[in-house]
Amino acid sequence: MIKIESAKKTFGSLTVLDHIDLTVEPGEVVSILGSSGSGKSTLIRCINGLEKLNGGAISVDGFDVSRPKELAEARKRSGTVFQLFNLYPHMTALQNLTLAPIEVLKRPKAQAEAEARALLESVGLGDRADFYPAQLSGGQRQRVGICRALAVNPRYLLLDEVTSALDPEMTAEVLRILAKLAEEGTTMVFVTHEVEFARTISSRIVFLDKGRLVVDLPTERFFAADGGMANPRVAQFLSNMRKD
Ligand SMILES: Nc1ncnc2c1ncn2[C@@H]1O[C@H](COP(=O)(O)OP(=O)(O)OP(=O)(O)O)[C@@H](O)[C@H]1O
Ligand SMILES: [Mg+2]
Repeated sequence: MIKIESAKKTFGSLTVLDHIDLTVEPGEVVSILGSSGSGKSTLIRCINGLEKLNGGAISVDGFDVSRPKELAEARKRSGTVFQLFNLYPHMTALQNLTLAPIEVLKRPKAQAEAEARALLESVGLGDRADFYPAQLSGGQRQRVGICRALAVNPRYLLLDEVTSALDPEMTAEVLRILAKLAEEGTTMVFVTHEVEFARTISSRIVFLDKGRLVVDLPTERFFAADGGMANPRVAQFLSNMRKD
């Protein structure tokens, strides 16, 4: 499981994460909602060790991400996909997918390629294996990005606003893939502004407000008038979302 205990993160005098406690068990889909600047991306970056905590602890399957030796193990278990496509531009889709399996997991090239082709096939990109990122649409690139995170068979998938740079049609393509992964039991921590989508795929929703985790409820309870909606910040956030 992913275990976050009293996590604290500051940038200078600014407290961005304020004693966050959160546990994600295998099989859960947890969406993280909250206004811009509430600390969602920072939390994801702390889980995969891109940012260091100033207090508290985060572990992935028992591996403490603050210890360099354990971080490598933690990262093998949690694949991350970000908002901006961060594929290697000089590598084809297939090469982007096989890099970590070959270099990090030491898989034979033929096996890594066969697995990568199967992954591309599963997201409807079987015929794009030899395309470079610049030759793909935004939605296709983001689907390749998800495949690349999946290529090392992580136990957890961390997704930070993976659709926010996409138009509605491409967003739908990517959300379809995520819904399928959720159905297959992939554990996901999902930062999103797609409230309605979060509602359909999440088992739980947590809400961050100015670096504090103020609500952590099963999805149905989150949207109930006497549940998450009883928190004025949540109610305001959801009503703003529905306006646009
Ligand atoms: N490297 C940094 N140095 C200083 N401040 C930072 C840094 N990274 C993030 N912050 C600040 O931390 C706060 C939280 O940022 P974060 O990116 O986690 O928000 P977010 O919830 O992901 O917002 P959004 O919905 O806009 O993506 C913001 O006030 C931001 O300015
Ligand atoms: Mg963010």
